[in-house]
Amino acid sequence: LSRAFSHRSERACRPTFGIAFDIDGVLLLGNSPVGGSPGALKRLYDADGKLKIPYVFLTNGGGYPEAKRAFELSKLLGINVTPSQVLQGHSPFKQLVKRFENDLIVAVGKGEPAAVMTEYGFRYVLSIDEYASCFENIDPLAPYKKWTTKLAVTQNAKFNESVPRNDVFSKRVQAAFVVSDPVDWSRDIQVLCDILKTGGLPGRNVGPQPHIYFANDDLEYQTKFPSERLGMGAFRIALESIFNRIHPQSLEYTSFGKPHPSVFKNAEILLEKLVASLYDDFYDINHDNTSYFKTLYMIGDNPAVDIKGARQTGHPWFSILTRTGVFKGKENHDKFSADLVVDTVEEAVDYILTKEC
Ligand code: G3P
Ligand code: MG
Repeated sequence: LSRAFSHRSERACRPTFGIAFDIDGVLLLGNSPVGGSPGALKRLYDADGKLKIPYVFLTNGGGYPEAKRAFELSKLLGINVTPSQVLQGHSPFKQLVKRFENDLIVAVGKGEPAAVMTEYGFRYVLSIDEYASCFENIDPLAPYKKWTTKLAVTQNAKFNESVPRNDVFSKRVQAAFVVSDPVDWSRDIQVLCDILKTGGLPGRNVGPQPHIYFANDDLEYQTKFPSERLGMGAFRIALESIFNRIHPQSLEYTSFGKPHPSVFKNAEILLEKLVASLYDDFYDINHDNTSYFKTLYMIGDNPAVDIKGARQTGHPWFSILTRTGVFKGKENHDKFSADLVVDTVEEAVDYILTKEC
């Protein structure tokens, strides 16, 4: 089938379908491919390794700039991924650059959160590690955390040059961005509470609560451990319940990521751009504001996130649920039932190529 498909695709039949792949629990468990993902993805390229079927990665995960994540996915999955194919939970934070471009902001989460935000165009970013290291004893548990001790020791290590150290004592933090899954919940909840309840200036008089944005609200997600792990949504619940007990007003926050329909709409725009880059007759078609695509397939493992999002967004999205991640049921999910349930992403791609080509 794949030979026949790639042969037919030689006639450059422009596909009117596209695919959005979730990552954790569909393509990877941690950094290990799952469900035959490398072979499944390879079938979207022709014999010369040229992409023929438009697809994107639509993940709530993140923590690294899109280009770095694309390079990592290329290595892990054995295909050539371009940065424009990588849509992460924090990718929509780009829309907020104009609003906070010159404001002091704090970036939270595993990986390189400050690098992610700096690459989007925010000019005055500190990671929560860097920010916390400016305040003596802000984390009373630090001496008991081996990794923080190391960090404290290298405290004068690379500090974001664009932010003079003393500014943190005079400039209000205008916004906090939880870019990826927080590593040290006790320290991050403590420091975020200090920022949020003092109007962005720990230890000083109160001011209006700075904005806090979360890249996703996933309560749980699937990685290498047999049962789901707590995600950013669980962290948000912990922070919110503590903040609401120590502050007169309730926490105000905004969560991004799937299942928000805007994330799926954005994926459709990028898939259209991908088709345009692959097929030069794309712009001959006059499709007004209706979708160019007849079908967009969302392949996910989390019913409450991936399937719910595709269903809420509606046409042309078709949801496919795999059993390699959060969902492990025999039938379909009772609340967020998918258009199709398969065991693996390999089966999902097989179904799509059989149906579409
Ligand atoms: O931290 C990642 C997790 O929240 C879910 O990732 O790829 O399943 O959307 P993904
Ligand atoms: Mg997933």
